[in-house]
Amino acid sequence: MSSIEQVGTFNLGARRVKRLGYGAMQLAGPGVFGPPKDRDAALAVLREAVASGVDHIDTSDFYGPHITNQLIREALHPYREGLTIVTKVSAKRGADGSWLPAFSREELTQAVHDNLRNLGLEVLDVVNLRSMFNVHHPEEGSLEAPLRVLADLQKQGLIRHIGLSNVTRTQVLEGREVCDIVCVQNQYNLAQRGDDALIDELARDGIAYVPFFPLGGFTPLQSSTLSDVAARLGATPMQVALAWLLRRSPNILLIPGTSSVAHLRENLAAAELKLPDDVLGALDTVASIGST
Ligand SMILES: NC(=O)c1ccc[n+]([C@@H]2O[C@H](COP(=O)([O-])OP(=O)(O)OC[C@H]3O[C@@H](n4cnc5c(N)ncnc54)[C@H](OP(=O)(O)O)[C@@H]3O)[C@@H](O)[C@H]2O)c1
Repeated sequence: MSSIEQVGTFNLGARRVKRLGYGAMQLAGPGVFGPPKDRDAALAVLREAVASGVDHIDTSDFYGPHITNQLIREALHPYREGLTIVTKVSAKRGADGSWLPAFSREELTQAVHDNLRNLGLEVLDVVNLRSMFNVHHPEEGSLEAPLRVLADLQKQGLIRHIGLSNVTRTQVLEGREVCDIVCVQNQYNLAQRGDDALIDELARDGIAYVPFFPLGGFTPLQSSTLSDVAARLGATPMQVALAWLLRRSPNILLIPGTSSVAHLRENLAAAELKLPDDVLGALDTVASIGST
């Protein structure tokens, strides 16, 4: 059994994907804006991910913008049978790289067509509606109107499944009234556990939870407790952070991001790491003290 098969699978819409996938955001230039500093290295990361058995890639056409999707297409098209590419819409980039809301029917429709064109697809597997009431964290506000736009595009055959991102529990409940929601993608990791209750609720209903910033994001997690546990287990802190998420709940699908083949290999090797029960208490303290 190859290393990442050991982590098992979970439903993502009509597909079952391995619980260890790859997030492509880090492939664009600094600040997720403009081209990568090393284009060949970016293509190599994507090819290595799929060659290693990754069957779930997370992206967006607003990474770059357009560049990350174009890299995915160049590296991987025609896509391997069973590869699920998940994208997200509802933001656009300012000329200075800022992140701006793009929630109107015209903007969402354009975004879906941009994703299809740049990825070289006729239908998008999963499209997450990313709430932009606040760019940094979930904030209440109705998502019904933009979700209805995505549901219309789904009826037209351009989208297979719809998910939500950067959302509150109330928005998840509202969304599930509007259309079938197959996944929720929110910020969550060993140090940021605000979605603990939501993850359990979604698990009970068979809905995937996809933590973004699983390693802490642009500034990866730093914690002496995490480092101590990693040293004890002969693993790296990032591997422990990923193994903890895999153990946290069966509906968690991982999409750690990296622009480096060496880091990709390290992250995928987290599949081999089984956390013993006696480190869980120590790792729980990382959330209460935050990352240091
Ligand atoms: N829905 C949303 O609003 C949203 C927001 C953010 C991200 N996302 C998605 O979530 C995915 C994951 O988030 P992310 O990539 O921003 O954050 P992340 O996975 O938490 O961490 C990425 C950072 O960790 C570093 N890193 C990765 N592996 C490492 C390793 N083994 N050792 C040391 N450093 C390592 C990367 O640098 P190197 O490149 O040097 O490895 C990068 O700086 C993204 O790719 C994107 O698809 C979604």
